Amino acid sequence: MPDASYREMERWDLPVLLEMSRENMAPIILSSWGVDLRDEEILRAILEPSSYTEVAESEGEIIGYYSVEMGEGRAFINSIQVKRGYQNRGLGRAMMERIERRARSAGIGIIDLWVQLTNRQAKEFYRHRGYRTMSRQGNNYLMRKQLF
Ligand SMILES: CC(C)(COP(=O)(O)OP(=O)(O)OC[C@H]1O[C@@H](n2cnc3c(N)ncnc32)[C@H](O)[C@@H]1OP(=O)(O)O)[C@@H](O)C(=O)NCCC(=O)NCCS
Repeated sequence: MPDASYREMERWDLPVLLEMSRENMAPIILSSWGVDLRDEEILRAILEPSSYTEVAESEGEIIGYYSVEMGEGRAFINSIQVKRGYQNRGLGRAMMERIERRARSAGIGIIDLWVQLTNRQAKEFYRHRGYRTMSRQGNNYLMRKQLF
């Protein structure tokens, strides 16, 4: 597991987060929807006023981030990304644990997220963290974890 420290995103991190998201997600969006991933869509989720975005850094480099919206009794994970080359080493799990802790301490018992049908790696990852498929909308599944 890479030694990571966490901090809230600053606006000047955006180009790095966009590049990481594009690198990870563009092939998935293309295979799932047949369209190119647009930066505006990534930005809209991250910059949503009710979103909280945290970056994970190692040796001064951003190696992952997540963006989560905390609503009434329900949290929604807008995005979770681990930089290529750092995946499958426990960072995603550590960020999911941080999201859960944040939700619990806000008294939130449900965490929802969308995952693309073709994103098998992420679907398995969420399933192993206790997320269950609730419904399908277009080329996405809604997955949910009930914390309490
Ligand atoms: C999906 C994603 C966020 C998962 O993060 P990750 O850091 O790669 O995942 P982790 O390493 O935490 O966990 C992956 C597996 O490795 C295992 N693992 C954890 N620590 C490990 C370690 N030190 N060494 C080896 N394997 C380890 C985990 O147990 C996990 O297996 P499990 O799911 O069977 O429990 C990441 O792969 C990613 O960014 N993918 C591309 C973007 C994406 O699809 N995002 C989701 C959009 S919906």
